[in-house]
Amino acid sequence: MSDKTAAIRDYVYSLFNDDVAGHDFFHMKRVAHMAKDIASREQADLFICEAAGWVHDIGDRKLFSDSEQALEELEHFLQSIHCTHEEINGIRAASKDVSFSKGIIPATLEGRIVQDADRLDAIGAVGIARTFAYGAANGQLLWHDSWDRQQSTSIQHFYDKLLRLKDMMNTATGAQIAAGRHQFMKSYLKQFFREWQQH
Ligand code: NI
Repeated sequence: MSDKTAAIRDYVYSLFNDDVAGHDFFHMKRVAHMAKDIASREQADLFICEAAGWVHDIGDRKLFSDSEQALEELEHFLQSIHCTHEEINGIRAASKDVSFSKGIIPATLEGRIVQDADRLDAIGAVGIARTFAYGAANGQLLWHDSWDRQQSTSIQHFYDKLLRLKDMMNTATGAQIAAGRHQFMKSYLKQFFREWQQH
């Protein structure tokens, strides 16, 4: 790990170490490492992908009360560790449009890779765990089968978002990894409903 990457990791740790609802430090770590892995298979810039993976949730409006200020502080931090102008622009371009809710395909290859890495972390075994952690933190039930209730559930989130992600991958590498995780989620749901109905 380069000195710059280590400094970025420590900065991210200071921001996310106390989140327990799915956007914790280890989410950033998994996304950074996955982005770097995909980058090496897609001939993209390894440093930009890893760095943008680390910082991709900084400034997210769900997590930061002042999004602009968080992004400005990040830029100052990157300058302070001697990232070049080009690197800072590359990291910004690769992290700013990653979020699912924006509904944007990032303009750079590095951005498309970080978006794939972030979406891969939302599916599969880790994705399932994060979904229930997030649901619990937001007061949601696991699932309910009474039709007169409107309340959203963690299981509903699989159908609203998670099962759609495999067809939204930007890179061939991302699509390949997503296919396996998608299958795992489908068998998980099958088993979940089997147990739910067993009484
Ligand atoms: Ni994320």
